[in-house]
Amino acid sequence: MLRRTLLAAAGSDRTRALVERSPGSRQVVKRYVAGPATDDAVAVADALIEDGLLATLDHLGEDTTDANQAILVKEAYLLLLERLAAAGLTPHAEVSVKLSAIGQSLSSDGEKIALEHAHAICEGAQRAGTTVTFDMEDHSTTDSTLKIVAELRRDYPWAGIVLQAYLRRTEADCKDFATPGSRVRLCKGAYREPESVAYQTTQDVDLSFVRCMRTLMAGEGYPMLATHDPRLIEIGGALAVRNGRGIGSYEFQMLFGVRPHEQKRLASAGERMRVYVPYGSEWYGYLMRRLAERPANLGFFARSLLSK
Ligand code: FDA
Repeated sequence: MLRRTLLAAAGSDRTRALVERSPGSRQVVKRYVAGPATDDAVAVADALIEDGLLATLDHLGEDTTDANQAILVKEAYLLLLERLAAAGLTPHAEVSVKLSAIGQSLSSDGEKIALEHAHAICEGAQRAGTTVTFDMEDHSTTDSTLKIVAELRRDYPWAGIVLQAYLRRTEADCKDFATPGSRVRLCKGAYREPESVAYQTTQDVDLSFVRCMRTLMAGEGYPMLATHDPRLIEIGGALAVRNGRGIGSYEFQMLFGVRPHEQKRLASAGERMRVYVPYGSEWYGYLMRRLAERPANLGFFARSLLSK
């Protein structure tokens, strides 16, 4: 119930204005977001890599309704990729992109514009010697996102895709995407979805995650297991052993600020561990989804909102 309320608040302009104006919200944002500038993202990636971790950087923003804004986001990624390469952080650092931030949700020619911008970002990543993974948003965009990534893979076979275990369709999608070299990030899914398309209980989502993981780990692609859930991480490790997957043929992924000690523990144990680092000023929707996953953080959030 609380999760659904928070996810509804993620789309509310009124709540957004209230939260963004609150001086205390900065404290909470700092925990999950590198900072507003490109340099902040590069500095956090540098520190993570120094600690033996990998990074994927996300320029915050989604549901762009302005074609010029979509161009600015594309340019922000190109600048970031140049800076990462100049700092010697590629290929340990890559980027994650939301297609809705680069035009997918524009009313006219959205898909075409997003594909063009995504193409330019992939070209920039190739120049920088690294990769791009395309985030998955709400279920109304799944087909379009899969289609765009399939198109991009003709030129950039390393382009990564995200699949969400809470969607009923995902088990079948995992079979389709477990092909040689295919980089697939598996996550539980972070949006408010109807019962017709998505499992609603924690148990059903977890069971689907395990089925999807089995398919990906037994397949020929490169699975990226994106979860903080200790049981699923343990099962992922066991599936790697069962399928004879050595280090370097799959990886774990977690979000910046969530279970940092576990991130370092896995890396010290020799696992490839990538941290998803958001940066930029459009943090509102991202923060509300993180609170929905962990309502225990709400007390901290509420206290921060009230503080000066
Ligand atoms: P779950 O939410 O059950 O959490 C398991 C445990 O992890 C909790 O008990 C707690 O200990 C800890 N934890 C989880 N969230 C926490 C938080 N916010 N603060 C503190 N502790 C927390 N989703 C999506 O729809 N599209 C996408 O493209 C992506 N991309 C993506 C990339 C990466 C690298 C990650 C790790 C996640 C995503 N997600 C995503 C988000 C994902 O769908 C999911 O919402 C979160 O990862 C939380 O799910 P868990 O699997 O961690 O389990």
